[in-house]
This record gives sequence, C-alpha cells and structure tokens, in this order.
Amino acid sequence: MGKQPPIKSAVIPAAGLGTRFLPATKAIPKEMLPVVDKPAIQYVVEEAYSAGFSDVLLITGHNKGALVDHFLQAPELEQTLHARGDVGRLRALRELNKLPELHTVRQESARGLGDAVLTAAEHVGDAPFAVLLGDDLIEPSEILWQQMLEIYNEFGGSVLALMEVSDSDVSKYGIAQLSSTTPLRVTDLVEKPEKEKAPSNLAIIGRYILSPEIFSVLRHTSAGKGGEVQLTDAIATLARDERIGGPVHAVIADVRRFDTGDRLSYLKTVVEFATRREDLGREFTEWLKGFTRGLHD
Ligand code: G1P
Repeated sequence: MGKQPPIKSAVIPAAGLGTRFLPATKAIPKEMLPVVDKPAIQYVVEEAYSAGFSDVLLITGHNKGALVDHFLQAPELEQTLHARGDVGRLRALRELNKLPELHTVRQESARGLGDAVLTAAEHVGDAPFAVLLGDDLIEPSEILWQQMLEIYNEFGGSVLALMEVSDSDVSKYGIAQLSSTTPLRVTDLVEKPEKEKAPSNLAIIGRYILSPEIFSVLRHTSAGKGGEVQLTDAIATLARDERIGGPVHAVIADVRRFDTGDRLSYLKTVVEFATRREDLGREFTEWLKGFTRGLHD
C-alpha cells in the first residue's frame, strides 16, 4: 500500500451534556472544568497540535460560550497582568495565544458521539481525520499518535487506540474484537457490552484516526446504546467490511489515561497533576501526606 494523504484535521467533540457533573456543568461545558489551573479541553487541544494536526475543530453544544472564549485572546486581561508585573500568569495566557486558530461547529442537540462527529462532515470534507475525546487526557500521547499514524500511512483506513480494562469496566467502553495479525486488525466492536457479551477486554480510549467514509456510515447508523447514535457502531460497520472505508486497525496504547468525565477519576487526575507541578507540587504533596495519615488514624 504505502503513503496515504496526510491527516490535517482533528475533531474534538465537546458537546455532551455533562450530566455526571451537575450542577457544576449547568452553565459551563464539562471540558472547561480545571485540572489544577488549566481546563481539561486545553490539554486535549494542545495534544492535537503537538501531534501535527494543523486544523482543529471543536464540536460544541448548548453552552459553548466559555469554550470559545477560552481560546480567544484577552487583551484587557493581558494588560492588567502586564501592569501588575505578573509574568508567570501572563506567560500562561500567552501560551494559549500561540495555539493556531480553532474552528468550532455546534451540534444542534446532544444525540450522541456519532452524531457529534457527523457535525464535522462539512468542515473535514473527503479526507481522513483524527478524533480526540475531550474527556480523556493521555500521557504520553506523542508515541501513541506516532504509532497510529505509522499504521495509517502504511495501510490507510482507520486506526483506534485501545487499552486493556478489567472485567468490571468493559460495560463503560466500546470493546474491540481483534484478529491476531500484525498490526492488529479490528473485526468488530460493541459499545458498552455486558461483561458476558464483551468480545475482549480491549477498550476504545478516546483517540481515533477515521476514514472519511465514516460520515456516510454515520448518516445511516440508527440510535444504539442509550438511544444515541454511537461512533462505535459506525466504526464497527467499517470494521466488518473493509470495502467501505479500508481496514480498521488498532494500537494497544502503552499510556496512562486520565478520565476527567467521571467525578472520581477527575478528582484523582487533579490530585496527581497537582503533585507534579513545579510551583505547587512539593507543598501540596506534603499536605496530602499529612492529610491521608490523618484519614487512617
Ligand atoms: C465514549 C465512546 C466509547 C469509548 C469512550 C472512551 O464513551 O462511546 O466507545 O470507549 O468514550 O472514553 P463515553 O465515555 O462518552 O460514554
């Protein structure tokens, strides 16, 4: 096969209702919840640009205001920080300005991840593209994207990132059935199966390379799990018949995944990221140690 067209567009769906975080997410999208002092979405947008995708499209929902504002320049705020000599915070804001311009498109109603991705059809056009779910922070992401892009360059089609999960967790994810070829080939997918019906323990994490044929498949994909149009169901259609949009391959990701869409995982993520911070880490960790000792007394 050989060289494929380069992937320029990355689609970041951030249009969910965020019901697990209500009432915090009543007026702001859940992707704006801070992980220490940076909203979760910023980590994901930065990841997309570092992976080399020059065109980033955010799919927003009913409360998109804060998401869009976050990536706009804020001259007044910058002036104030400048006047105060607050170099550190000014630098953090200017880091944001360095990101290339983001595009946004609005999903009319939250009808599922598949429907959100379909909203990107016009912007992306007839070209393969990447999808990064706004809830999932991945570390280190560079190697994962390199592996996924290598497979894409060689074989075309679509590539998914998978991670092994425990039996009790398979019902939270899209689960893959694989053939034991190299690279791994996805032969089927099931969205959030019961443990007994799961084809494996390999779960889709929120990083995908998709062939543009996914859009026409999505248009014909009826509502699945939870009454929503599922991206997993549409990719399963591609996986079962490679004549539609090429093969679907998988990479078993050797990464850590931080799920900021779930309250408990979110709390763990914030604590871990805080302990690592140069400016806060030492003091926070000291406090945390004392605090947890107190808990065990
Ligand atoms: C979505 C996908 C699921 C995937 C998961 C990864 O589910 O539908 O296939 O495994 O993201 O985070 P959600 O977490 O949005 O319910």
